[in-house]
Amino acid sequence: MVRGIVTTPLVVARAEGARLWDVDGREYVDFAGGLGCQNTGHGFAAAAIHEQTDRYLHQCFMVTMYEPYVEVCRLLDETWPGEAETKSLLLNSGAEAVENAVKIARVATGRPSVVAFDHAFHGRTNLTMALTAKVVPYKQGFGPFAPEVYRAPAPYPYRGVSTDDALVALSHLFKQDVHPEQVACVVLEPVQGEGGFIPMPDDFPPRLKEVCEQHGILYVDDEVQSGVGRTGPVWAIEHYGVEPDLMVTGKSLGGGLPLAGVTGRAEVMDAVPPGGLGGTFGGNPVACAAAIAVLDEVRTEGFRERVAELGKRIRARLEDFVAQSHLLGDVRGLGPMLAIEFAEKTPELAGRVTAAARERGLVLLSCGIYGNVIRILVPLSIDDALLQRGLHLLEESLGDADAG
Ligand SMILES: Cc1ncc(COP(=O)(O)O)c(C=O)c1O
Repeated sequence: MVRGIVTTPLVVARAEGARLWDVDGREYVDFAGGLGCQNTGHGFAAAAIHEQTDRYLHQCFMVTMYEPYVEVCRLLDETWPGEAETKSLLLNSGAEAVENAVKIARVATGRPSVVAFDHAFHGRTNLTMALTAKVVPYKQGFGPFAPEVYRAPAPYPYRGVSTDDALVALSHLFKQDVHPEQVACVVLEPVQGEGGFIPMPDDFPPRLKEVCEQHGILYVDDEVQSGVGRTGPVWAIEHYGVEPDLMVTGKSLGGGLPLAGVTGRAEVMDAVPPGGLGGTFGGNPVACAAAIAVLDEVRTEGFRERVAELGKRIRARLEDFVAQSHLLGDVRGLGPMLAIEFAEKTPELAGRVTAAARERGLVLLSCGIYGNVIRILVPLSIDDALLQRGLHLLEESLGDADAG
């Protein structure tokens, strides 16, 4: 295995709901969901996948059409966070989808530049590395990066950056580095994921949208990690009442299979001439069959209510942990997309917690530009008893790290 891929010693043999079993039969509570790809739980889409597997595996949508692709686009249109008539393009990964959103925004506006934000993560391809805001390990040595990418501060209240600060800095960027009429789009995660689970304050997305409208800039909403029910509503941007121009989806969309999408206002999506968009595997029929099952589930009232309830329960426990620890400084998130941040800007403590958790039978992830944030990406199908067990293991692991 190459050194560039970092993993853990856990070898999985089976998974179901929010549980994993390793090759020795030991059970784990899963608070990672394959990095946010199991919002509906391990195994949820298995029946839909089996059924599609018996029909056909692959056609390539550029060769022949097939219904699962069209149905996913229809569901993306139905769940679109706004009034516009939309169209969708399906792809394989979040990074590929972000790249395509930028391609589309450039053609639709005739402008070259893109604004991304502090703490952003948009992927590991060349253009998305340029958009991503963490040098080690994502960018170090991999340049030169795609040009015409500019970075503005994003609000981060815990570390003293407010909405006003971020917007003042954006107007400064427009004076200092790039004229707003050169900017095709801004790209923003409603809850920044890899960058530290930083939810945008209520007023930032709407005020950013106003700035975009003033200058003819398109608003690209990256929902790869925060979408597909992770925060309660199907799309996290719904918390903010902002209708984006383009929305990027991925991760849990395919229920564990690789699938991503770009959905956007029809006239923006159709700015690209025939043949300008595509790819061999994008919108693979089996992944689409899984996505239909997933989207049908996450848009139900029952799912949304359960997710809101999970959010309250997890937040209450995390607030207890922070109140009891002199090392932890912040609890934040939207719905159950929650995290705790160590006050110290170093990765050691969070690393100790995730290692201790694994020893105790809990799969847990850290994140953040300083690697000092513990995030919860638990499958949202988890029942109360298993959730309590997982939170108890997390509490014990925090204690281990503190003692260590
Ligand atoms: C917000 C966001 N955008 C894009 C990506 C890239 O997705 P992928 O790893 O599927 O290319 C990620 C992955 O973590 C993400 O969290």
